[in-house]
Amino acid sequence: MDSILVNGGTPLCGAVKIQGSKNAALPIMAASLLTKDCNFLENCPRITDVYRMIEILESIGCKAIWKEDGLYLDSSGVYSGAIPDGYSEGMRSSIFLLGALLGAVGEVSMSGIGGCVIGNRKIDYHVMGLTRMGATISYQEDRIQATAAMLCGTAIQLPGPSVGATENLVLAAVLAKGETLIQGAAAEPEIVALCQYLSRCGARITGAGSDCIRVEGVKALRGVRYTIPPDRIVAGTYLFATIATGGNVFLQKAPWRELYEPLAVAERMGAVWNCCEEGIYIQGPERPKAVGELITGVYPRFPTDLQSAALVASCVATGQTIIREKIFENRFRIVPQLRKLGANIRDIDEESVEIQGIEQLQGAEVEAMELRGGAALVLAGLCAKGSTLVQHTAFLYRGYENICRDLRDLGARVASV
Ligand code: EPZ
Repeated sequence: MDSILVNGGTPLCGAVKIQGSKNAALPIMAASLLTKDCNFLENCPRITDVYRMIEILESIGCKAIWKEDGLYLDSSGVYSGAIPDGYSEGMRSSIFLLGALLGAVGEVSMSGIGGCVIGNRKIDYHVMGLTRMGATISYQEDRIQATAAMLCGTAIQLPGPSVGATENLVLAAVLAKGETLIQGAAAEPEIVALCQYLSRCGARITGAGSDCIRVEGVKALRGVRYTIPPDRIVAGTYLFATIATGGNVFLQKAPWRELYEPLAVAERMGAVWNCCEEGIYIQGPERPKAVGELITGVYPRFPTDLQSAALVASCVATGQTIIREKIFENRFRIVPQLRKLGANIRDIDEESVEIQGIEQLQGAEVEAMELRGGAALVLAGLCAKGSTLVQHTAFLYRGYENICRDLRDLGARVASV
């Protein structure tokens, strides 16, 4: 079953529990290699990218066991940094193994860290920083090989804010000799979670969440129990689904402190929200108001991963919206699919589109091309007349445990087919 059938027209109503964060869990799973010990990751999301990361870790000697409330990882038996072909292809998150394995075993070899449909996904910042720390890195075609007899702390100026490069350098620095200063660091909450996990393991890190992270290398790290924080992008996806359908929803465990910008956009769309420790209450408007202009940016600006969801809500808003995608080169692949549903979208240039909102989309057959765009197509089906078939939805399970279950919990008529 690689499609989702959506019967639109029903406002979402009820409560949904937000799963653990994909983009926090994946670097933390890689980081667990540095402890060479047993770790327990509570609230680890059951998504295909986590399953694939488990396969990679097991291929180099780790043990992984799912328990009721989380994932048990034992990296005491890790014996190699050579990841067999076919394990890391097509999964950007395997890049975190570069810093983790250099720190844990001093060598890495893996393939397939290439780009994907949303953009080039370069790794030059990663390579520059790790090389400055003493790693020798070669990168032919699609295979990367790296060794480091001893990683040494140093000052690194990142040319631009990169979540993955920041995380990789922290992973390489925690067991390095001396102190590492990462300037121009990204500030995403997932980086804060990674640094919090590593600090619990005994690492010495300051400045997480700012543009300057300082790491003092230590001799060893120990395994710990750590709770993966809720996924702000999953929460934001359901936030815009509620707005697009005029619903009334409680997002249980939604990390509202990490969603200020999406909540500000929600308010401009006419939604009413309030939050408490347990999550976010959101009341969507009868019909969303166009917000005029929405620009994605690095945290805490509007997250690129919610751009497609906001685009869908803008398609049924009153008025015109211009969306500018500033992070990835190719994050409008959803646009031709939305036009099949009747959306009125004009390409301005390769980073901007102009949307004239219409009253209602019309159900049709569409194709998911990647994770967040695919999820947004399901949202489009929710606010379309009639039924919409979203094909190639395997992408969605990379980041959403079960989007059909979650949306059905909110009264949506959706089913995997
Ligand atoms: C992380 O990707 C997330 N993935 C992405 O989420 C997220 O969209 C992105 O950060 C931005 O927030 C994970 O955490 C697993 P970047 P990452 O390095 O680290 C350029 C999702 O849907 N760049 O911050 O790959 C790069 O091309 C995914 O959950 C370089 O030029 O993103 C991009 O234009 C999608 N050279 C920009 O920086 C480099 O060496 C930001 O990329 C590295 C990055």
